[in-house]
Amino acid sequence: GVLWAYGYQHQTVNETGITVFEFSEEGILQRTGAEIKDWLRSVPDRPALHFSPIRHWMNDPVGLCKIGELWHLFYQFHPAGGDWGPMHWGHAASRDLVNWLHMPVFLHPEQNLWRLGATGGAFSGNAFLDRDGRLMFFYTERLPAYDLFEGYREVQKIAYPDRRMIKAEAIVTVLEQRPDGVEHDFRDPKVWWDDAANAYRMILGASIEGDPAVLLFGSGDGLDWQYIRPLYRAPVNFRQEGARAVECPDFLRLGDKWVLVMGFVGHVEPRTQRHNLLYALIGEFNEDHFVPDTPELQLLDFGTDYYAMQSFEADGRQIAFAWLFNWEYRKPEGSSYSGEMSLPRVLSLSEDKKRLLMLPVIEVDGHYAADPVIENQSGQYSLPKAPIEIRLAGPLEGSKLVATKGGELAFEVSVADGILLIRLAEDDGSIHYVAELGEAKDLRLFHDCGIVEIFADGGAVCGTRRGYVNIDPDRLEISTTAAARVLERH
Ligand code: FRU
Repeated sequence: GVLWAYGYQHQTVNETGITVFEFSEEGILQRTGAEIKDWLRSVPDRPALHFSPIRHWMNDPVGLCKIGELWHLFYQFHPAGGDWGPMHWGHAASRDLVNWLHMPVFLHPEQNLWRLGATGGAFSGNAFLDRDGRLMFFYTERLPAYDLFEGYREVQKIAYPDRRMIKAEAIVTVLEQRPDGVEHDFRDPKVWWDDAANAYRMILGASIEGDPAVLLFGSGDGLDWQYIRPLYRAPVNFRQEGARAVECPDFLRLGDKWVLVMGFVGHVEPRTQRHNLLYALIGEFNEDHFVPDTPELQLLDFGTDYYAMQSFEADGRQIAFAWLFNWEYRKPEGSSYSGEMSLPRVLSLSEDKKRLLMLPVIEVDGHYAADPVIENQSGQYSLPKAPIEIRLAGPLEGSKLVATKGGELAFEVSVADGILLIRLAEDDGSIHYVAELGEAKDLRLFHDCGIVEIFADGGAVCGTRRGYVNIDPDRLEISTTAAARVLERH
């Protein structure tokens, strides 16, 4: 196998999986593939269907791609602790987007120099396959230290993987110069080949004179970049509501439209006090100008835990992962890891092209038994062990689903007067989120160890929340006139 060392861990990879060697106070611990499986299962609140790191801290999905038959999920990773720290790129690979093999750490801040005192961070970025079939990863390095809150620099780099996708074997810096008026936030490149321009294009999250903004750059060879113009500048209310800069911008083409997705650092939505929300704009992209069809930003997910979404194109689909987190809560004390990914979602546009739709990829269906364990309209049922999917087909108005354990609430979903409400158990009572439905004709709800992901109206209304209270409900009360089915994972 290949041996690769980083900080506190050494890992080898072989055909059957991965062996992790860890340095700890007891000496060197060795864990084989089978032990890792048991270990993963031993964490009671670890979801079965949603990706999580073996241990330690994870945030944004990065570098997503499909190479040959393998899907690659990279992620922001701090391999030496349960909190955010010097950022590495963790790595996992899959044949079906649902079962993942944990791979060695792929990218290190300043290529491991942080152990010698350089403490930058290999921040977020995307995968790019050039026309010769060469794969590269564009990403941001924060220097000199990952945890400075001012005075840091963010530069854009390319990492070239080795043939086996085990580690980044060459790194080049491609963009350091910030345009005038742009402060230190200058990160999270998304690069694509633009047929219309016959050149490379890159966007970065940043701010201009204090307004959160997305910047557009161009290049003929992918190495030498010129600033073109702001692709988008947020309206002044964002700045007033605390937003400092755009992070993790995504820009994707769906048919003849382009969709811009953005997170805003520091932003707090005034109505609900939620932060870390994602917003989208749909519009035209012509001659390097993005013109939204309407200036109103669409809220992408009405829950609280869908952030840093990254999408990529593969097999003719636009697929996205996001990080289920919002900085407001922590895992229970003593947890061996932090951070989970959403289910992979397919992005598309509604028929009138006014709304971005998100639905779980079809591969997720393959992990649910075809025959429902519950199929009825209303009644009280015992729930099978998580993960489950509840589907309602037909008019949702008046529907209510209540999941409990020992009579205590786990989650509740209801539809009244066209409003979808989700209520979840929290340490100090319950919390609820609402969204306005359109047709109110269908709903899919996934529950996986406290993670709730809801898709209604064909994916026009999505809500995601990670909870830690009553994460294994055993009773479900269904009251609806829609056809209800509960599916269990096989
Ligand atoms: C978003 C983010 C990105 C950055 C990364 C650092 O969660 O702040 O902007 O690249 O996380 O881990």
